[in-house]
Amino acid sequence: MIPTVAQAKALWQTYHLPITKQHHSLLVALVSRTFAVYLERYTDIRIQKDLLFVGALLHDIDKKMPNLPGETHPDVVVRVLSDLGYKEVAVLVKTHPLHAILDEQIAPKEWEEKLLFLADKMTKYDVITVDERFRLWNDEYLPIKDQRILDAAYPKVKRLEQEVFHLAHLTSEEVIKIVKNDILHQEGDIL
Ligand SMILES: [Fe+2]
Repeated sequence: MIPTVAQAKALWQTYHLPITKQHHSLLVALVSRTFAVYLERYTDIRIQKDLLFVGALLHDIDKKMPNLPGETHPDVVVRVLSDLGYKEVAVLVKTHPLHAILDEQIAPKEWEEKLLFLADKMTKYDVITVDERFRLWNDEYLPIKDQRILDAAYPKVKRLEQEVFHLAHLTSEEVIKIVKNDILHQEGDIL
């Protein structure tokens, strides 16, 4: 079962997702959808766009959720969405954290997983580039363990970026422009 956009937004309220994270999640959804539309336009790849969109809306919904012992982001999201019967979304969300790309077991493999992963890596509170997103992370002076993940993940994320942009005939600048236009003309009332 896949929730509707209205149901996903209701979950933001249920789980007290901060407004900044709601905004981030909406942007990730719009970037993901842009990738999906352009990939479908230029290739034979077909994307479950409804699943991808609500997956993006829900991928960080654990910001204020209490963790069970041993759970880290996004384990709680995966558990809660599975319990709600949203299994497909739970599976999709599981592969989005940065470290997932380093772990063959949970690395994004399906197109929906790859697109959500990449869209999240070019979005903070605005849509930016992958390079800019990594620059912001590097400026945080993360603990050494996280810095190692960041350094190891960077070339793999860049490879994914190259693959998607090549197939979808897109550039970062075009994605940023398309999403800004979406917000201005179609999605202004979504929040
Ligand atoms: Fe995110």
